[in-house]
Amino acid sequence: MELVNEKNVILLDHPLLKHKITQLRDKNTKTNQFRLMVKEIAILEGYEALRHLPVRMVEIETPIEKTIQPVVDRKRLCFVPILRAGLGMADGMGDLVPGSTFGHIGLYRDEVTHQPVEYYCKLPDDIEEKEVFVIDPMLATGGSAIDAVKMLKKHGAKNITFICIIAAPEGVEAFNKTYPEIPLYIGALDRCLNENAYICPGLGDCGDRTFGTVVRGGNE
Ligand code: PRP
Ligand code: URA
Repeated sequence: MELVNEKNVILLDHPLLKHKITQLRDKNTKTNQFRLMVKEIAILEGYEALRHLPVRMVEIETPIEKTIQPVVDRKRLCFVPILRAGLGMADGMGDLVPGSTFGHIGLYRDEVTHQPVEYYCKLPDDIEEKEVFVIDPMLATGGSAIDAVKMLKKHGAKNITFICIIAAPEGVEAFNKTYPEIPLYIGALDRCLNENAYICPGLGDCGDRTFGTVVRGGNE
């Protein structure tokens, strides 16, 4: 399957984005720096993924004259990080679009089966009216992403986009097969999954690296 030619699979290619993802992958990047990089990458990816947002015209006054100009309806946007690792990207999206709203979905992968386990879901009451952007740095098997979208649809969400930083071909294929209508933005498409369903070369465990929960060789 030629993944990036699939409709709605968008592999971003800005050199600065690639540069930052390389820094993120580096095992010597420490927790503070890692969190900062995730935030910056989210802003770069968000800028691209929000390119098609509708604008409405409002009247304002410049120091010179009155004029009618476009604005984004920020309250219509809802970013939904998948806990935990998605929280790092949520920081960036909040900076990119102050005044937007957030939902939260809690999922973790069972270590043996690699299947997602749900533990939390809190979404805005009017989720069906929102432009929803699900954010999670890692798309590995695709199980968590597919489950998160299923939960959103169950709550009535209609306009959904998924943004990740690093994806494995297996996850992209599974997600696109399940939800061909949902745009999937990817910062880097990696080689494959290993026997533990980690992305290769990937960056390791994104949640642990974001929050410093596992200290390996002075990664604090
Ligand atoms: C990571 C990541 C995704 C999921 C991807 O979360 O942030 O949510 O794995 O894997 P998948 O595509 O195979 O489902 P994890 O389960 O490690 O939870 P955490 O963020 O709380 O550490
Ligand atoms: N989750 C991660 O944090 N990293 C991977 O490589 C796969 C799933």
